[in-house]
Amino acid sequence: MPNPNLNVSLLKPEEAEQYMRIRHQVFRSTVNKVLYSRGEPSQKTLDRVTEEIRDGVVNKGILYLKCIDKSTGEMTAGARWRCVKPKEEGAKERTWEEVEAGFQLPEPYDESDLEIFEGLHNLFTTNKREILGTRPHYVLDTLVTLPDHERRGAGSMLVRWGCERADEAGVEAYLEASIMGAPMYARHGFEAVKEVDLDLSKFGDKEKMSFILMLRPAKRERTP
Ligand SMILES: CC(C)(COP(=O)(O)OP(=O)(O)OC[C@H]1O[C@@H](n2cnc3c(N)ncnc32)[C@H](O)[C@@H]1OP(=O)(O)O)[C@@H](O)C(=O)NCCC(=O)NCCS
Repeated sequence: MPNPNLNVSLLKPEEAEQYMRIRHQVFRSTVNKVLYSRGEPSQKTLDRVTEEIRDGVVNKGILYLKCIDKSTGEMTAGARWRCVKPKEEGAKERTWEEVEAGFQLPEPYDESDLEIFEGLHNLFTTNKREILGTRPHYVLDTLVTLPDHERRGAGSMLVRWGCERADEAGVEAYLEASIMGAPMYARHGFEAVKEVDLDLSKFGDKEKMSFILMLRPAKRERTP
């Protein structure tokens, strides 16, 4: 059941910085090591991330969500969903050109190590190409809940939001789960397809980072 004290809605452009801060804090010990392997991101980098979020909301139709604790007004969690569909009206599948255009490597940050940054990008895109092909889908790129607000249902509400849209459109949903997030996604109907690792050892770091690639089947035929 959704938590009645929490509210999920679309992020406004002026809230991009708040979202960036939550993401930055939650990902500090994990994803940030891949994005900013060479050191703590500068204010310039954080401003760039904020601008990318704002631009995504305003110009790119990216579905950024926020979760607000109604009793305090605090933003406690956020998510980034995308609807990936054919450009051509009425087409059932994307063209391979459209698929490849969506896989272009973003510009690394000043603090990125190119090899690690590209390593994660290639790991994700290779598997998306193989698992999703040209099929339209919803994809959950990011899900973050502030540590003090975990296990209150924010993550589930943000996942449900996108799953409901995928069901309305009759398409699959996809994500790269952290080990921590996977059980929650399974409760929402996502099925593990494959586990993949990003090897960080060759970069002087002993760790590897593991992800579970998960696909949620379409509920019914796609609406035209
Ligand atoms: C995974 C995450 C998004 C869950 O958010 P949330 O708001 O706590 O989600 P919910 O309250 O709806 O669901 C809680 C479930 O998430 C998992 N979870 C949340 N906090 C956890 C923790 N500290 N330790 C282990 N599992 C945890 C559990 O499966 C939990 O279910 P349970 O309480 O029945 O055991 C959040 O913990 C987070 O941001 N983690 C770090 C970043 C991350 O891994 N993001 C997912 C990337 S795919």
